[in-house]
Parts: sequence; C-alpha cells; structure tokens
Amino acid sequence: MLDTRSAPVLELQNIHKAFGGIVAVEDFSLDVRAGEIVALVGDNGAGKSTLIKIISGVHAPTTGNILLDGAPISMSSATKAREHGIEVVYQDLALADQQQVYMNLFLGREMTRGPFKMLDRKAMISETERLVEELDVRIPSAHATIRDLSGGQRQGIAIARATHWARKLILLDEPTAALGVAETAKAEKTVAALRSRNIGILIVSHSLDQVFRLSDRICVLRRGKQIGIRETAKTDKNEIVSMITGV
Ligand SMILES: Nc1ncnc2c1ncn2[C@@H]1O[C@H](COP(=O)(O)OP(=O)(O)O)[C@@H](O)[C@H]1O
Ligand SMILES: [Mg+2]
Repeated sequence: MLDTRSAPVLELQNIHKAFGGIVAVEDFSLDVRAGEIVALVGDNGAGKSTLIKIISGVHAPTTGNILLDGAPISMSSATKAREHGIEVVYQDLALADQQQVYMNLFLGREMTRGPFKMLDRKAMISETERLVEELDVRIPSAHATIRDLSGGQRQGIAIARATHWARKLILLDEPTAALGVAETAKAEKTVAALRSRNIGILIVSHSLDQVFRLSDRICVLRRGKQIGIRETAKTDKNEIVSMITGV
C-alpha cells in the first residue's frame, strides 16, 4: 500500500533528560508529521512539560537527537528554536499585558521600515487584523490592550502569534487549562483549524475529552518513558487511561 502520510517534520530520537539525580525523560522517541495533531498525555510529573521545553530550546536534552525535516538540529535556546520555526503556547497566557494586541504578535520581532528601522505599525496592525480574522479570534481591535481582553481572547492571540511565526511546529502545553468552557471550545476550534497549515502540532493536555476531540494520534508518557502511541480513531479512553496509570 502506498504510504500517503507526509514525512515527519519533527523526530525525537532517544531523548533523555535528567535534572541532577531526577530522571524526567527516559529514552523517548516520537515523530510528528506536518498536518497532524499529536497529543502528549500522562500523569502529573510524567515529563510532558520537560519534553515541550526540550523541543522549544528551553532545556537541552542530556542525550538524544532532535531532527527537523530530517536534519539534526541543536536547540541551544528558545531563540534558536524560534529561528527554526518552532513556536510554543503555554497555559499561563504569556503575553505582555500592558501592550496592544498587534505589538504582542510581533514582540521582539517587530516589523520595521526605512533605513532608521522605524516600527511599521501600519503593517503590523494589518497583519494582525488579517490573522485574527482568519483564525476567527474575536477581539475589539488590533489596538486593544491585552489586559482588557478575556482569557479566551488572550489565548486566541497567543495561538495567533504562534501561527504567524511557526513554519514547522506549534507546541501547546495545556493551552486551555486557564480557560472557561466556552473559551475552551473556541480555542479548540482554533487549534483544529491549524491542521490545514501543514505544520506539526504537539499538544499537552490533561483533558482526555479534548485529546479525543483534537488529536490524530496520542502518545502516552509515564514516569518519563514513552508507553505507546495510538491512532486516536483506533483507541478509546479506557485504553489511554490504563496506559497513563499502568493498571
Ligand atoms: N527544572 C527542573 N529541575 C528539577 N526537576 C525538574 C525540573 N523540571 C521538571 N522536573 C522534574 O521532572 C519531572 C517531570 O516534570 P514535568 O515535565 O514538569 O512533568 P509534567 O509536565 O508531565 O507534569 C518531575 O519529577 C519534575 O519534578
Ligand atoms: Mg506540565
């Protein structure tokens, strides 16, 4: 049978991470393909956030390889990971509260014009408007101050920012943990729509309902070890729960 699946955009090979004597991740391997959503699940302390931090350049793995589009990369910093086209969305809505929406989208990577590198506010505003429209993030305006927005609107902006910059991969670590029910549904719609952008998406979530709604595959982590990977359509909550808990 012809394999129509795309090549992996991200390959993690035998990743191991120890913090002093604590082994957070042990011999972990996983592929993520462009256009798919992979969910990473596991109990508290299983090593999910550590893996996200390794892929996003916050922590270096103790041993193991990270490949992007088949080429080994060394992710020495978060800046480096961003240069490689990897963006992260955290649960704690990591935006600059006192700044406007459009400035948040471009924070640290502002658009400029002319020899004196003046901020090109017009270009940033119009790109922001285009993006929030496309992702259906409903905000009063691109000029709104972040602190005046709801949690759901803010997370929409964080996802929009990741979407704008990510060329390869978006990592989401419990992106809806701080949101209400309606806001969560909205954020899930936004994440699901990212599938069409042909980048890899890796989402950490403790909500199995969410995982089953959003993901194409589910990877289970227990005490730093990869317990197994299932196609979401071919498994159920009972199986995933028993993989998570080991009983
Ligand atoms: N910076 C750190 N220093 C020391 N131990 C850490 C650090 N980060 C995580 N750990 C430990 O690594 C393990 C995995 O943590 P984490 O990746 O945050 O799990 P999860 O996100 O699945 O809840 C835990 O035992 C945690 O205490
Ligand atoms: Mg975590």
